[in-house]
Amino acid sequence: MCGIMGYIGNRQAQSVLTNGLRKLEYRGYDSAGIAVFTGETIAVRKKTGRLAALEQQLAASPLHGSLGIGHTRWATHGRPSDENAHPHVDQSGKFSIVHNGIIENYLALKRELLEKGVTFTSETDTEVIVHLLAELYAGDLVEAVLQLTRKIRGAYALGVITEHEPDKLVAVRVASPLIIGLGDGENFIGSDIPAVLEYTRDVCILEDGDLAILTKDDVTILNIDTKQLINRERVQIDWDQEQAEKAGYDHYMLKEIYEQPRALRNSMAGRIDEAGKTVTFSGLQLRPLLNDIDKVFIVACGTAYHAGLVGKHVIERLARLPVEVDVASEFRYRRPLISEKTLTIVVSQSGETADTLAALREAKRLGSNVLAITNVVGSSIAREADRVITTLAGPEIAVASTKAYTTQLLVFYLLGIYLAQERQTLDEQLRIALIEALQQLPEQVESILANADEIRLFAESIKQEKSIFFIGRGIDYAVSLEGSLKLKEISYIHSEAYAAGELKHGTLALIEEGTRVIALATQEELYEKMLSNIKEVKARGATVLGISSAKTIELHRAVDEVWLIPSTYPLFTPILSVIPLQLIAYYTSLALGNDVDKPRNLAKSVTVE
Ligand code: F6R
Repeated sequence: MCGIMGYIGNRQAQSVLTNGLRKLEYRGYDSAGIAVFTGETIAVRKKTGRLAALEQQLAASPLHGSLGIGHTRWATHGRPSDENAHPHVDQSGKFSIVHNGIIENYLALKRELLEKGVTFTSETDTEVIVHLLAELYAGDLVEAVLQLTRKIRGAYALGVITEHEPDKLVAVRVASPLIIGLGDGENFIGSDIPAVLEYTRDVCILEDGDLAILTKDDVTILNIDTKQLINRERVQIDWDQEQAEKAGYDHYMLKEIYEQPRALRNSMAGRIDEAGKTVTFSGLQLRPLLNDIDKVFIVACGTAYHAGLVGKHVIERLARLPVEVDVASEFRYRRPLISEKTLTIVVSQSGETADTLAALREAKRLGSNVLAITNVVGSSIAREADRVITTLAGPEIAVASTKAYTTQLLVFYLLGIYLAQERQTLDEQLRIALIEALQQLPEQVESILANADEIRLFAESIKQEKSIFFIGRGIDYAVSLEGSLKLKEISYIHSEAYAAGELKHGTLALIEEGTRVIALATQEELYEKMLSNIKEVKARGATVLGISSAKTIELHRAVDEVWLIPSTYPLFTPILSVIPLQLIAYYTSLALGNDVDKPRNLAKSVTVE
């Protein structure tokens, strides 16, 4: 997730900006840069890699001035490179901007600007903003930024400066976080509170649609649609630096669980047309990869593998293509039956997992095209795959994967619908209804998160268990596997995920008086069958928590406790049913006093075989 820092005051902006950016390092980044008004012009320094590389460049050629913007970039459009790093400037060099978010209509805007003869120097979506701004400017920066917000679509937080008006810094927030730090004779912008804490503890949190005009001595906020002045509360922050990095949450894992609605919205942005009728992966040229395929392999590890299991249901149901799912460490040694007609999809949050990378190479060696679903644009897997769809979850810091999983699911839904469009395997009305349901998911996740209190109590009640069962049928079984992995890895309690109908073939022997069972029953067509399986474990003395969207008396009678999740299309329930499972794992680990973010024996990125 990109980091923004901006400064206007009397200090040297260069050091304020680099200090602020250092405090945003925890967000993850691949390049960094600053732009400073030096008294005559705007000068920019930017560099791929760590902040230290930028600082080296600044030591060799420092920038003097008290107005500036800075940025750490987490690549989304265009690989990590010096050119793609922010800040970006227009052709005249008189305007500079930093941006966090995604401009959904950047391709159309870029086309228009190219036709007008504008030269682009990067592959980013951001660069269109600065060229547009320069074009719209007619002597009033605020007016030009207001007009700009009418042209761009998507999620964005912006910091803008121009040498025409060096007494101000303009900032805008639309669906990407941005805060103002209020100082004495100086003011700041930051994409997060830690950026400004060294200088001030007085902040003002911008809301969607806010445009802030910062001068040294004043901050004015207005609404971008109505232009009406807005009074935003001044908040005193008493967090220490570490708490601030976690946005006040106790752990990164919890923060990332709560970031899921935003991560889902970002991953959807620009991939559904404005009318809500089709899925588009513009600029990706997926079509040549999909022509003539007769089989799909999904290969991944751990949580990403579990997302792949859901992906199989989605692609088979919607696009009527046979799909095999393999654990990457198995795939490479089992001589998989692959031809040029096979599409291999590798899924990896980090894009660096050694087993997945080796599987990708093996698939290519056998003649398959490879599509990667990853969260890290410049990663090894992203570089070696034929095509890449990015999950725009932002950096995931906790070892236990949460928002990467739900955004991987979302990408599978989009891909499933896209494949169905291409292969004409889905009725148009149903496709539109599916897209509508997809767009409701972030809000539905929010509603589950808003009622998470009872999960704490449940976690308290299971923390002494030796073993727990997760059961489900069909797509619920795939989610059970993920729920079980999450619990194992951070609570260290043994758990087993089982296809509910398979219990009677042996494992039922382990169910005894008081055994805790978490039963997922979200699939209407399997509901009756699932109820029978729940009764089987209940009859052997199990204590059962049911997770379902069906408010039936039978379910309430069959289980000890029910948690309801909102209704959606059966294929989409995993994004909702996994949320309580993530929270169960989190709160159980917390109740046991474990190191939630860094569980024993595990690493965030597994780069060895
Ligand atoms: C579990 C977890 C791991 C990873 C696995 C693959 O919470 O994080 O199971 O999912 O190591 O990692 P990536 O997705 O980076 O390839």
